[in-house]
Amino acid sequence: MGPPRVIIVDSAEFPLRAAHCIAAALGSAVEQRGNCMLALAGGDTPLPVYDRLAALPGVPWDRITIYFTDERAVPPQHPDSNYRRATDSLLSRVAVPPERIHRMEAERPDRERAALDYEALLPAALDLVLLGMGSDGHTASLFPHSAALAETRRRVVPVSGASTLPRLTVTPPVLRSAKQLMLLVAGEAKALLVARALEGPEDVAVLPAQLALSGIWLLDRAAASRLVRTGAGSSVHPSDS
Ligand code: 6PG
Repeated sequence: MGPPRVIIVDSAEFPLRAAHCIAAALGSAVEQRGNCMLALAGGDTPLPVYDRLAALPGVPWDRITIYFTDERAVPPQHPDSNYRRATDSLLSRVAVPPERIHRMEAERPDRERAALDYEALLPAALDLVLLGMGSDGHTASLFPHSAALAETRRRVVPVSGASTLPRLTVTPPVLRSAKQLMLLVAGEAKALLVARALEGPEDVAVLPAQLALSGIWLLDRAAASRLVRTGAGSSVHPSDS
């Protein structure tokens, strides 16, 4: 995969444009391969996108298998659960067969076992992985300077940092093997980080969201507002800087 493809849309249009982008990628994967292995991002940014996606016609949901990039160590009905939030905004409204929805059981006391069990469920290569970027540059639950960033063998690991709930997360090998990555970032608060990620030096330990530099970066105008050399449709790579 080459450098990122940057798509910049007006903030008001962001959820619907992102939903159309995802629907197109899902349809294309199903057309080419008969089914699509989709990993959903957590956090707030995707929620209005999932809401619009649920209402789009023609998505072959019966051919789509759902995974999660990460999950917090809370029960599935907890308001902080990525599974709960994706279910409320999307999965409860579309016809994905229940047996095709694979929840990360991060609430299990033995999170090591839960990580190994989830790893066994993952396909060798996901077709589409949706990601967000935190205000510290993390993606999935791969936080700056975390040991999980150096993982080359395991594909799901437990993580726990001082400032956040313990979690399970996919590791860089899962992102690197994915056929398509799509990073969704909105809001002025992340504009500097987006600019650093797309136009600064590549250092995944400092800016784990750079693991998605080979994918599509779907930005609203506010999140893209500090970009200097990167416009919509750009294929840019920090090594060009
Ligand atoms: C999580 C997410 C995380 C998220 C970023 C951005 O479980 O928190 O997977 O990686 O994508 O923190 O979150 P927002 O979209 O809420 O800013």
